[in-house]
Amino acid sequence: MKRYSSLIYVLILSFILTSCFDKRKPNYQYFPDMYEPVSYETYGEYDIFPNAQQALEPVKESISRGWLPYDYEDNAEGYDLAKADLTNPLPYTEENYNKGREMYDIYCATCHGGNGNGKGYLVEREKILGVPSYDDIGRAITEGSVYHVMYHGINTMGSYASQMSNEELWQVTHYVMTLKDLLEDKEQKEFVEDVENPVVR
Ligand code: HEC
Repeated sequence: MKRYSSLIYVLILSFILTSCFDKRKPNYQYFPDMYEPVSYETYGEYDIFPNAQQALEPVKESISRGWLPYDYEDNAEGYDLAKADLTNPLPYTEENYNKGREMYDIYCATCHGGNGNGKGYLVEREKILGVPSYDDIGRAITEGSVYHVMYHGINTMGSYASQMSNEELWQVTHYVMTLKDLLEDKEQKEFVEDVENPVVR
């Protein structure tokens, strides 16, 4: 009997230690700092913050990094203002022109045609109607209006603001205005020699 007594003690002890254990409650925490961080929990509630909310809201009227608000609204008035006042902040360098052409061929040529006459692939296959030529006198597009319609879209043409950076939108604008000149039998403007682009986010 003596041989087994220590074993029995161990069994009784382990029964006492585990019998009251409630599986639905968190277990005993050894080194609680490992589980409960000293810093604030993301999205936790702490009285020290406004509304007891750890994730602070951005300061009113702050804007995201790398993004600038565009002041011209998506309506006829905004269009007219952009058309009259807005000019291309990028110099007419060969690089800007080439980047603009690349983007144009990807995003615009399917409807507007490689030379901007409004007879792209989708128009020829009658998938979309009413695509104007860039030398359409009634529209008399300007740098500002080209940027504006790419930014907001116009009627059946969608917006490109989420697909291209602001710099790219302005590069495409240079290219579109060049196509307009060529359609009007004008000479292409001379390139400006290697100037750095200003930051246009
Ligand atoms: C899905 C076909 C389609 C694509 C792609 C497209 N457009 Fe258009 N675009 C149109 C149509 C249709 C109109 C005429 C909209 C209207 O005024 O009713 C138009 C109009 C325009 C105008 C004239 C707007 C004015 O001031 O009257 C410009 C400039 C223009 N697009 C530039 C672009 C550029 C730049 C791209 C590429 C970033 C592009 N479009 C991509 C269909 C397209």
